[in-house]
Amino acid sequence: MTYSKKPAIIPVAGGKGGIGKSIIAANIAVTLASQGHEVVAMDLDLGASNLHAIFGIRNSEKNIMNFATSHDLNLEDMVLPTKYSGTRIICGAANIAGAADISASQKLRIIHSIETLQCDYIILDLGAGSSFNVTDFFLTGEQGVIVIVPEITSLMDAYSFLKTTLYRRLQMEWQHDPDIRNLVEQFKNPKNEMHMQTTEDLLRAVRRVNEQTEQQMRLQLQGYGVKVVVNKVRQKKDFQVVRTIQQLALKNLNLSVYNAGYVPYDPTVEHSVNQMVPFVQAFPQSAATYQMGQLAKSLTATPAA
Ligand SMILES: Nc1ncnc2c1ncn2[C@@H]1O[C@H](COP(=O)(O)OP(=O)(O)O)[C@@H](O)[C@H]1O
Ligand SMILES: [Mg+2]
Repeated sequence: MTYSKKPAIIPVAGGKGGIGKSIIAANIAVTLASQGHEVVAMDLDLGASNLHAIFGIRNSEKNIMNFATSHDLNLEDMVLPTKYSGTRIICGAANIAGAADISASQKLRIIHSIETLQCDYIILDLGAGSSFNVTDFFLTGEQGVIVIVPEITSLMDAYSFLKTTLYRRLQMEWQHDPDIRNLVEQFKNPKNEMHMQTTEDLLRAVRRVNEQTEQQMRLQLQGYGVKVVVNKVRQKKDFQVVRTIQQLALKNLNLSVYNAGYVPYDPTVEHSVNQMVPFVQAFPQSAATYQMGQLAKSLTATPAA
């Protein structure tokens, strides 16, 4: 089958390690494939690749680092089948020390190739942290997914990830306008001379340069929504973390955060990791699998506006 339509890219990030980004990315992929879509799950956690293990396959010479460092390979050549119909995978770096430090040109080579994959959905499993390597992969998707767990450290990391992606987006968007670019550059520094702390402060400074630009930036910000998924939910009060990040993002960053769903804390998820089978396949009746179905629905619905 050849595809005339561009695939939809769903990046999965979170700022923090060990919160379930890879598990969720893998299970979103298998869930969407079970609904009849062609899906490629791509391991872009170049420092700690483990997506292949969740699918029970060995890391291979066909991997993203070999692609990034080559000049003649196509990304499609790196795609491997999995046992699950409709789900294919691109492995991360095969335990190469320092693989997380890819060069800017290698990163661009990957980013420019993602959309060439022949499929309906591409799920990006991203690394921890808020480095530009992670944020730039995140920004390849129309609306990325941020995973959080109900812990203050996860909330803080998710918030700083949001802030860095916002800064990065504005920086790219306004790179050809020296005045605005300069303001965005200052805004990035929390100790900036103009005392810009919130996005509203930045907008006020932009307004002093050009009122129209301010309006334009406000419109852009409205389109920058991200989706959040809470993982490892054990009790009702764990959902509070969603409200908190929504309020922080709106108040300080002028960003809307949409609640895309949750995954309960479920011991079958851990068992599935040890069995090297995605949990939606290993435990189709589990609470986690049910919620993954709900999550897939909300991710494939038209982007929240
Ligand atoms: N919903 C869950 N319930 C129980 N354990 C979970 C759940 N989600 C993740 N885990 C556990 O957390 C571990 C880390 O998940 P992983 O996806 O590798 O994190 P990350 O990619 O964010 O570093 C998994 O190996 C699994 O044991
Ligand atoms: Mg991971």
